Amino acid sequence: MIGIQTEQQQDQQQEQRPERQLNHRYDAFAKVTGRAKYAAEFPVKNVAYAYIVQATIPAGVVVSIDDAAASRASGVHSIITPFNAPKLAELGNVNVLQDTTVFYSGQPIAVVVARSLPEARSAAAMLHITYKEQPAKLDFDGLLSEARPPKRGGTFHRGDTAAALAKATVTIDQTYSTPLQNHNPMEPHATIAAWDGDKLNVYDATQGITGVQQGLARAFSIPQANVHVECPYTGGGFGCKGYVWSHTLLAAMAAKVAQRPVKLVLDRGQMFGPVGSRPNTSQHIKLAASSDGKLLLQQHDSTCYTSFISDWVESCAAQTNLLYDSESLSTSHLVVPLNLGMGTWMRAPGEATGSVALEIALDELAEKLNIDPIQLRLINYAEKDPRSGKPWSSKHLREAYAQAADRFGWSKRNAQPGQLREGNKLIGHGMATANYGAGRSPSSAIVRIQPNGRVFVGIGTQDIGTGTYTILAQAAALALAMDPSLVDVKLGDTTLPRSGGSGGSTTAASVCPAVYDAATQAKLKLAQLAVSDAKSPFHGANVADIDTKDGKLFLKSAAAGDPESITDLLARNGGAAIEATATSELAKDRESFTSHSWGAVFAEVAVDADTHMTQVRRVVATYDIGTLLNEKTGLNQLSGGVVWGISMALHEASIIDKKYGRTVNENFADYHVPVNADVHEIDITCLNIPDYKFNPLGARGIGEIGITGAAAAIANAIYNATGKRVRDLPITPDRLM
Ligand code: MOS
Repeated sequence: MIGIQTEQQQDQQQEQRPERQLNHRYDAFAKVTGRAKYAAEFPVKNVAYAYIVQATIPAGVVVSIDDAAASRASGVHSIITPFNAPKLAELGNVNVLQDTTVFYSGQPIAVVVARSLPEARSAAAMLHITYKEQPAKLDFDGLLSEARPPKRGGTFHRGDTAAALAKATVTIDQTYSTPLQNHNPMEPHATIAAWDGDKLNVYDATQGITGVQQGLARAFSIPQANVHVECPYTGGGFGCKGYVWSHTLLAAMAAKVAQRPVKLVLDRGQMFGPVGSRPNTSQHIKLAASSDGKLLLQQHDSTCYTSFISDWVESCAAQTNLLYDSESLSTSHLVVPLNLGMGTWMRAPGEATGSVALEIALDELAEKLNIDPIQLRLINYAEKDPRSGKPWSSKHLREAYAQAADRFGWSKRNAQPGQLREGNKLIGHGMATANYGAGRSPSSAIVRIQPNGRVFVGIGTQDIGTGTYTILAQAAALALAMDPSLVDVKLGDTTLPRSGGSGGSTTAASVCPAVYDAATQAKLKLAQLAVSDAKSPFHGANVADIDTKDGKLFLKSAAAGDPESITDLLARNGGAAIEATATSELAKDRESFTSHSWGAVFAEVAVDADTHMTQVRRVVATYDIGTLLNEKTGLNQLSGGVVWGISMALHEASIIDKKYGRTVNENFADYHVPVNADVHEIDITCLNIPDYKFNPLGARGIGEIGITGAAAAIANAIYNATGKRVRDLPITPDRLM
């Protein structure tokens, strides 16, 4: 039976393939046992607690802060206000007590440092603050006429829109809206800062340790090397932890003033304002098509709020520039300045919100044309990047539509709305396209092949809960053909080789090639050591002929000859580790193509005819994201994005009080996010077609695409169920009455 394998043997062999072995999360054990330490959990001797005091008016100036009573309160070390705060050098657009202006309600206006958190909070309540109030701008709809172009970019045109419109037989002209949202990762923002002379040590919950290091160095006018940032685990980021906000700088400032280490943790309510938002949007869409479904015009004009602190644009219309082919196109962005906290990146900023408007509009167009919604998208399929005419590095959206439609059973859908009923439930089906860009940032890594048989990977990236540890261990194991459980990964530390931030779905595509390259180079050094070692069986052999597998060196070409164990080779040669550092370079020809990820999302809803409550029974989605690096962490990321799509469609909105400017529902009781009872069947698949033009592993990032298209697919399904077209999210029961 030699040469014939049983199925069982084949299965075993499959299991032993390195890329398959780490079918668990590298950090799972540390997390479920509580051994994983998050920023606020590091024990620091003599640590004091800082509490941020927030403005209670939406606009104006702080006139005075009387801290007499608070200073005398138990345990209080320091009270920092705009009237006594040290001056910082260079700031991002954050409020760190450098002046008395109040831009929004909730803005940090003082910091109390005390022996314990309860003492800090209690003293904070004793501050007597007087303001000079100014009229606040809070009514987005009422101020739409004051919308202005943002300071940077925002418009795009192609073709003759007037001529194209004149030829149209069918048009859609509607306005869609999405609400303001605030990030709510499980772990709130947190910083521990400790000075040692002019050196600063920081534990920070962040999506970018290097950014935090740079921000602190600039603010305190110290060399970047003097700032050491550690963040081995981040309990979710979603964009808000991609920016250096006031609390990080205030923690370092408080540590300086109080002359002791300081811990500053935002409470849940403080997540609503001082650390960014997804701005609400009002999106006007005009589509024009000929009777055969060919798009003649796509017009997408989006307006969002921006703060008075800094312009930030939710770039809803940017994806419209590249999603579908059309004879003409015009997109623009406007902003309405309001007295609210700054906008920032929130999972698929622009694509998540923009796809709501565009993909619902396409559903409306498909109905008017009496063309199947998938067919309409195929008719206008962008074979090349419509912005530039450049080819895609890899695009398989057609296959994604087909696979998801098949798994969903789309062919059985009744296109006529309001026809399918189960008891008092109205059943509907809808679909939409998902998309997100593919980016990479340069990244460096160190790999050490150690004499104890284990391999060390060090890289200055961070794992925001996505599985970065896991795929880094896999990347090294793949290069060395070894068991990934023998790989030790260290990340989240600015003393490690520098890497980019964990945002924009760029991490996996950036860090894995760097680790793979470093491991490959370490392997080469190992081979060089073997060929020059008189005692090695490979002495005098060709370096290129030597490879490694399961901790052993072997000759690729010859079947004969015993492998040599790496630990033996290292022991004989001084017992030191072999190490190599590599920096992954971006593709040299990257200007000649566009890399983008795609997906097809289908949803089935059941809307209660009496209560008008919607249940998302089923979401089926197929993504074209290049190589799927790890099934468990990858599919998990994508389904998490879909869950957030359910949230966008049905639940999630920050409600601003139009008089006081404060978020009314700044807590988890009133800010609704889906819980398990809201989430039913989610069927995610990936085409797993590598995009080798994009990077050597063929993998594009997957952090954000899952949320895109999902809300629109649900909205379209609700229309199919009820015949009621809701163009404003979230689709709460009142909007279906
Ligand atoms: Mo993502 S919104 O780039 O963290």
